[in-house]
Amino acid sequence: MAAISSVLLLAALLAAAQYVLRLLHSFLWVPHRLARRFQRQGIRWPPRSLLSGNAAGFRDLLSVARSKPLASFRHDGVVARATPQYSVWPARYGRPFVYWFGPWPRLVVSDPEIVKAAMTDSTGAYDKSGSGGNNPLARQLIGEGLVGLSGEKWARHRRVISPAFNMERVKAWIPEIAAAASSALDKWQAEGGSRTEFEIDLHKGFHTLSADVISRVAFGSSYEEGKRIFQLQEEQMKLALLAMRTLYIPGFRFVPTKKNRTRRRLNQEIQCSLSKLIEVNGVKCEDSKNLLGLMLSASKAGSEYEMGIEEIIHECKTFYFAGKETTANLLTWATLLLALHQEWQDKARNEVLKVCGKSEHPNAENLSDLKIVTMVLKETLRLYPPAVFINRTATRDIKLGKLDIPAGTRFDFPIVDIQRDPDVWGTDAEEFNPLRFADGKSYHLGAYLPFGIGPRICVGQNLAMVEAKVALAMTLQRFVFTVSTSYRHAPTQMFTLQPQYGAQVIIQKI
Ligand code: HEM
Repeated sequence: MAAISSVLLLAALLAAAQYVLRLLHSFLWVPHRLARRFQRQGIRWPPRSLLSGNAAGFRDLLSVARSKPLASFRHDGVVARATPQYSVWPARYGRPFVYWFGPWPRLVVSDPEIVKAAMTDSTGAYDKSGSGGNNPLARQLIGEGLVGLSGEKWARHRRVISPAFNMERVKAWIPEIAAAASSALDKWQAEGGSRTEFEIDLHKGFHTLSADVISRVAFGSSYEEGKRIFQLQEEQMKLALLAMRTLYIPGFRFVPTKKNRTRRRLNQEIQCSLSKLIEVNGVKCEDSKNLLGLMLSASKAGSEYEMGIEEIIHECKTFYFAGKETTANLLTWATLLLALHQEWQDKARNEVLKVCGKSEHPNAENLSDLKIVTMVLKETLRLYPPAVFINRTATRDIKLGKLDIPAGTRFDFPIVDIQRDPDVWGTDAEEFNPLRFADGKSYHLGAYLPFGIGPRICVGQNLAMVEAKVALAMTLQRFVFTVSTSYRHAPTQMFTLQPQYGAQVIIQKI
């Protein structure tokens, strides 16, 4: 008996020693080795703690930046307020610089040449760390869908999904998008009652509009049908954000804390709602070849893509979220910018009235004639990109220009900062000037990338641009708008870049 106890004790001690050694290796030896490699190249970082790296410093920066709105509605404080890590730290430690999340380094690179080289690489040297990276709590929102997949699984899903958003198909949806926009604008009109001038919050209205559009075009459903899913995802988003800003301890998701229980409940409810939606809308979608229809075809026996029902559910979550958040924020910022820059509002409205008239909806034939509207949207995407940064992880040691990058390093490419680089955009980089995009002028691929570039370029880009053009043109047809005195300029990053306290404008019916 005593012998058995001794053996068990010895085994336990050995297991504990192995665990401690592994921890020491991950938290001391690996970061020490990486740090020396960065140091040799003159790359610096903020003082960090042994266990959490710069996670606490990162949270402190965010909470100070978010504690108050910007003093005025200008564009030069956006990076410092929404993503202070890309403003405060490079000012102190230079570019590129590193910050640490626990033992893992994040290398922040803004050089357009390097950004382009990394993002267009096709050798497999860069992996997408995905939404949430190695933190399963952060991945719950969309991390298991296209945005967060990699390798063969990503390629298989991308092949099934891409055709759902090609330009021909998106153009065919214009009447449906216009109908959704019309009903959103009717609601604003109704809010005003008999008043000719009144305040509205653009942010809410555009979120409902985008939710309606993605429901209709991707799932053959409507905002009302998907409403519960959108509400649950909003709650889930807040919890995922908390998880992303904290260092994840392996196994923590199984600890029954209050937040973890809420996460589990939300996840189950979303899964359940999506299963029902697939059951109800699946059959009618198969003929329409929309996103849901294409995925269901790919799940049939004999299909070369072999998509399982769990995979379809993860993709539905991704598209409900990505399809709504991003475009809604683009529309919100574009309209706010036109409310601020009245001369551009007038120019854009004159163009819309010339191309579409006072009450005709834009259509597939005349949408490309809306050149000023397009320039306004492109400039909005430059100054207020809904996706503020993109990340990749080096899968092996990489030579990138002068940089010698160890495997496992995560890259942050801060779009919001890169797109204001005065070396590319000139001394007025912080000014709203849609003329930069006149005559279809384009810029260095690594300097203007609101939809990303390379193989992982946004699959919903066509839908986003067409939807934004149609909705903005129709808004201009019906209302004149100015910034309300109650608007406080507070761009913040909640997955996407959005106005923290809403987007209040005064609208006047035309
Ligand atoms: C203004 C609107 C939008 C912006 C600014 C935007 C931005 C982006 C960016 C920057 C990426 C690349 C991320 C990377 O390389 O890591 C991306 C990917 C993606 N976007 Fe969008 N997006 C928008 C609208 C949409 C819409 C409407 C949908 C859905 C219909 C969508 C679905 C996706 C998906 C699924 C991916 C992942 C693609 C892949 O990895 O293969 N996006 N988006």
